[in-house]
Amino acid sequence: MAEKQTILVTGGSGFIGTNLVRRLVSGGRYRVVNLDALTYAANPLSLADLDGSPNYIFVKGNITDRGLVSALFEEHQPVGVFHLAAETHVDRSIVSAEDFLQTNVVGTYTMLEAARTYWDGLPAARKDSFRFLHVSSDEVFGALGEEGYFSEETPYAPNSPYSASKAASDHFVRAYHHTYGLPTLITNCSNNYGPYQFPEKMIPLMILNALSGKPLPVYGEGANVRDWIYVDDHCRAVQLAFEKARPGETYVVGAGNERRNIDLVNQICSLLDEMAPPSEVHALRARGLKSYAELIRLVEDRPGHDHRYAIDSARITRQLGWQAEVGFEAGLRRTIEWYLSHPEWIDQASRGSYGEWIEKNYAWRAQKEKK
Ligand code: DAU
Repeated sequence: MAEKQTILVTGGSGFIGTNLVRRLVSGGRYRVVNLDALTYAANPLSLADLDGSPNYIFVKGNITDRGLVSALFEEHQPVGVFHLAAETHVDRSIVSAEDFLQTNVVGTYTMLEAARTYWDGLPAARKDSFRFLHVSSDEVFGALGEEGYFSEETPYAPNSPYSASKAASDHFVRAYHHTYGLPTLITNCSNNYGPYQFPEKMIPLMILNALSGKPLPVYGEGANVRDWIYVDDHCRAVQLAFEKARPGETYVVGAGNERRNIDLVNQICSLLDEMAPPSEVHALRARGLKSYAELIRLVEDRPGHDHRYAIDSARITRQLGWQAEVGFEAGLRRTIEWYLSHPEWIDQASRGSYGEWIEKNYAWRAQKEKK
């Protein structure tokens, strides 16, 4: 059997990271070193099943710690990096951008510098095959109107502190390729959903609020549009790019599932009505609610809220043969099923500072609604 190749993954304990690490380890080809700071969005239960696996090594630490990152390169001699560690929640970046600058910009710079030093010292063959894949977001392109799609040619126009920090990190990655020849790749993906997503993001927040009979807070009129992709489809795209793409390439990735927020929340409610009937769920039965949709509330909008995201994935399809495989309703069902069957994970995610965040992000919106 061929010897396993070691990969360094940053942010492997977050939502997309968890799904990617599990995919890489179970594929049998790689040994994964996961560097993760285990901030609020990481859940220790997410990868607990990999503990003790010879192909999985967890390192708790920060990507801004140059000494640690360089030591990991030297010790593990990875064939490449999947760089996912990031602060990712737009609403948190609006409250304070400090952590976003540190992790997304300084952290990415630190990873690039450590990777460059390591890569410089590799023998020619290993140097050629090394890849630094930076996982980014379509939010760097700003907002679309009713028409059009983001592509690799779309100019950067980030609108939130979060997307500004991701745009800055993308520019550093690009510059390290252009200036030093570091074999980098960038993927800019649309909104992910699926198992293990921290419940500050729209889909898991709505599922969990609904099941506990709490309001479903839809920002503004619910007319903003997002283009949803099941997390496994995204992870497959990222792995394919890592294994097949030419250094310096960038790919936008999306599954062509555009939905207005209000329509999506209604769809979640209909699926929940069927999968967890309100008559069987105490929080709803006690209040005589017949459908989860009765919990929907329009609340004060997100400042600077981007109207629409939509992706034209033609390049990754043409060059790498990638296509999304999971249909939207099937993916939503799978996601809801996963949250229904993982109460311990939800319990863990809801501990710590989660309640404080919910209070900070939603209390003022509710007050405005009453006016
Ligand atoms: O497009 C890719 C991006 O998608 C990623 O780069 C980000 O890390 C990820 O968080 C996501 O950004 P969004 O801001 O689109 O995701 P979020 O889940 O926060 O919100 C989705 C939409 O739902 C957005 O239009 C805001 C709205 N929303 C969100 C929340 C949390 C609500 O109406 N109510 C809510 O309570």
